Amino acid sequence: MDPFVPELRRILWFGLTLPANSIVMYSKENTRELQKITEAFIKKMGAAGMTASDAENLRDVLRFHEYRYYVLNDPLIADFEYDHLYKALEKIEAADPALITVDSPTQRVAKGLTKEFPTVQHLVPMLSLDNSYNGDDLHDFDRKARELTGLPVIEYCVEPKFDGGSISLIYENDMLTRGATRGDGVEGDEVTTNIKQIRSLPLSAKFSSYGLQQVEIRGEVLINKTNFAKYNEYLTEQGLSPLANPRNAAAGTLRIKDSAEAAKRNLEAFVYHVSYFSLIQGKKIPDALLTHSGSLAMLWELGFRSPQQEKKLFKGIEGVINYCSEFEAGRDDLPYEIDGMVIKVNDIALQDKMGMTSHHPRWAIAYKFKARQGTTRLLKIEYQVGRTGAVTPVAKLEPVAVGGVTVSSISVHNEEYIREKDLREGDMVLIERAGDVIPQIVKSLPDVRTGEEKKIEFPTVCPECKSKLFKEAEEAVWRCINIECPAQVVERIIHFVSKDAMDIRGFGEANVRKFYELGLLKDIPGIYTLNFDTIADLEGFKEKSIQNLKSAILQSKQQPLHRLIYALGIRFVGETTAKTLAQTVSHLLEFKNYSLEALQNLEDVGPKVAGSIHHFFSNKSNIAMLEHLEELGLSLKNEKKQIPSATGLAGQTFLFTGTLPTLKRSDAENMVEENGGQILSGVSAKLNYLVVGEDAGSKLEKAKKINSVKIISEAEFLQIIGKK
Ligand code: IVH
Repeated sequence: MDPFVPELRRILWFGLTLPANSIVMYSKENTRELQKITEAFIKKMGAAGMTASDAENLRDVLRFHEYRYYVLNDPLIADFEYDHLYKALEKIEAADPALITVDSPTQRVAKGLTKEFPTVQHLVPMLSLDNSYNGDDLHDFDRKARELTGLPVIEYCVEPKFDGGSISLIYENDMLTRGATRGDGVEGDEVTTNIKQIRSLPLSAKFSSYGLQQVEIRGEVLINKTNFAKYNEYLTEQGLSPLANPRNAAAGTLRIKDSAEAAKRNLEAFVYHVSYFSLIQGKKIPDALLTHSGSLAMLWELGFRSPQQEKKLFKGIEGVINYCSEFEAGRDDLPYEIDGMVIKVNDIALQDKMGMTSHHPRWAIAYKFKARQGTTRLLKIEYQVGRTGAVTPVAKLEPVAVGGVTVSSISVHNEEYIREKDLREGDMVLIERAGDVIPQIVKSLPDVRTGEEKKIEFPTVCPECKSKLFKEAEEAVWRCINIECPAQVVERIIHFVSKDAMDIRGFGEANVRKFYELGLLKDIPGIYTLNFDTIADLEGFKEKSIQNLKSAILQSKQQPLHRLIYALGIRFVGETTAKTLAQTVSHLLEFKNYSLEALQNLEDVGPKVAGSIHHFFSNKSNIAMLEHLEELGLSLKNEKKQIPSATGLAGQTFLFTGTLPTLKRSDAENMVEENGGQILSGVSAKLNYLVVGEDAGSKLEKAKKINSVKIISEAEFLQIIGKK
């Protein structure tokens, strides 16, 4: 039987057809059918609602859309539509738990914490790969392969070498029964619950259509670069230490005890090898498993993300070498990290003939890209003071080239990070620059210590102004709380003139530092009283540049109030909160009279933010500074507040998440504001609409838990504001 033409099952209520049992293979026809059923379901939800008889079809539909989203990266429905369908299935299953199947999309969600991960034995040991670094190495590999097989030309399959954590999966009778980490290659940790959180891995797959009963497959778990950056941002916000690279993040997540937490990290997986299979009685080995490329195609057909589109076949090694270089050149454009390519003899019978060493198969080799890791010496730690007084330790390194970039200093974040990594001055350290990720210290190398290394003592006083440092209980960061501290003053001025704040072009960080050091600029109001005669005498300042600077400073006086508020650098007040504040008052100094409670009543302002705003406006020197700016011609008034503008959305709050199909986020936000609505920065009960695009993450999850928040698509948003 052709495995791609499964038996068909009639779906009575639509007269549409789907494969015989609930695990669907995604041929073109199936795609059309599934999409029709999806649309009918979406319509039906608005009307009569779902019934128990819909459970199986709903599961098929949900699986199909998971596949479109997570494997093909090409969704056919909006996230919120998926969510509605998912909720409908959850409701049906909750009403009648007998309807639940182990591979239902609702069954990925785990309950409770895993106590420990049992050790399990792999059906076939997970070997490593031999490495090659250049064309000569690959020529050697090809020569040996020809010798071992006795063939003049060999066909190779070349695919990316994914840089994550390796996994081994067992499917039995089409169901995922076990997922394990590599461990020592013979035994690994059983991490099935966390593996189930990876939506690009199907919980069931129709291996039986290939005559297979039990299958062990290998793959790599990854976190893409965007999700990794988001995750590190989140860690930093929480005062925790960021992770060195996506590989550590992915591998670490597999062993996390709380699978709900694992789900949040949005792991992805590629599968690239069938290491073991047993046949259903009476079936013969399927043609797909006679070649490596056939196995990749089979996995792809079954709904896995295999490197089906990335792989390429070559007769002989020359094409292989070119393909490896091509891929290396485009490495940074990929959404996930790869550290090389894997070259595999395509014919499985030849693979068996060539065999393996105890370490690696003789029929495959990794071609490693230029290293993005390097070792160097940590010379000393310097401390930088930011505009909010946060003291950040920075490791000064003996310069080292890593992936084409020379690195000589790296942030080491906070005191705890230094302790966790056991860093000492004089240590040799391993550093890594993972793609577009900022370089990080992976670890120190204690084995090569000489005894001369010095323990790092975090300062107790500010390195700039010598006032005592403070740390709040739940924070990792030490702070200088002297607002006159010169380092903070300079950083505040740099922020004030920056592009997203008052946007004073031609000022820039270097000029702020120079003018400050020369005593020409002491504080923010000083920007507006600069002595240009003195500046004209400085090296590098021509008449034209002075003219430009003068006019940029003058123009900045016209900036709207929300930009000025943001430019003040009040802790926790980002651009969105600045807009909220600007809309609240007619004159900025009205905030002097706002109580903490009144501030907290503002849309989008929680206790932490309110505390910071209150603190700012209770400080006499801040008020004096604002009065001074007003005297200098800056407007503290909310010019717009007096003029009622478009009010179609008055009182309505919006938030955007994910990538919108057609609108730029900033344009969409402007549309809301132009229509009298308001943008919030986070999901709360105060939010009326969450507009979701592609890749919507935690905001959507949170919004789903608050009944009053309406989750809408871009199209619906455009309808609301009357653009469609
Ligand atoms: S094949 C017996 N293919 O790289 C064949 N491995 O450094 C085993 N890896 O342990 C591996 N991408 O975890 C293979 N496309 C790919 C791979 C790949 C990443 C990992 C795998 C292996 C390690 C060796």
